[in-house]
Amino acid sequence: MGTKRRLTTVETVHEEGSWLFTIRDEYGEPDEAILVPCEDGVEGWINRCTHEAQRLDVGRGAAMRNGQIICPRHGSMFDSCSGYCDNGEAADTTLPSVAVAVDDGVVYLTDDDVEYLHDGQITGDEDDDGPASTSHISF
Ligand code: FES
Repeated sequence: MGTKRRLTTVETVHEEGSWLFTIRDEYGEPDEAILVPCEDGVEGWINRCTHEAQRLDVGRGAAMRNGQIICPRHGSMFDSCSGYCDNGEAADTTLPSVAVAVDDGVVYLTDDDVEYLHDGQITGDEDDDGPASTSHISF
C-alpha cells in the first residue's frame, strides 16, 4: 500500500461543490486534480477536459449541475461519479481518475501514481518544492 495523504473532508467538498489541488504526476510533472461530490461521498478527477486542455475548475470551483461537471469551454458534461461524458465535443470519453478514499468523513489521496503537492492551482513554484535530484526523470 502506498501512503495515504489527507486532503480535506467530505463535508467541505459538498459545501464548496468542488475542491482543487495540485499533484505531481507519474512523469514528475505538476498537474491539477479536483474532488467532486458523488452521492454521499467524493470522487477525484484530473482537472482537464478530455476534448481540449481546458481546466474544468479554473480557480473558482468547477461548474456543477445535477451531479455533472460542466466544461467551461464547450459545455460538455461529465458525470461526477463515473467521469464519463455522453454529450457534446467530449462525448464518449472519461476523465482520468485520481484514486481517493474516505475514512470517517476525511478524504485521502490513495493514488500510488501521483504525489500530493498542495491545495489549489498550480503556482509555478512546484519544482522548488521537491528534492532537485528527483525532479526530472529521463525518458
Ligand atoms: S474543451 Fe471541454 S468540451 Fe471542448
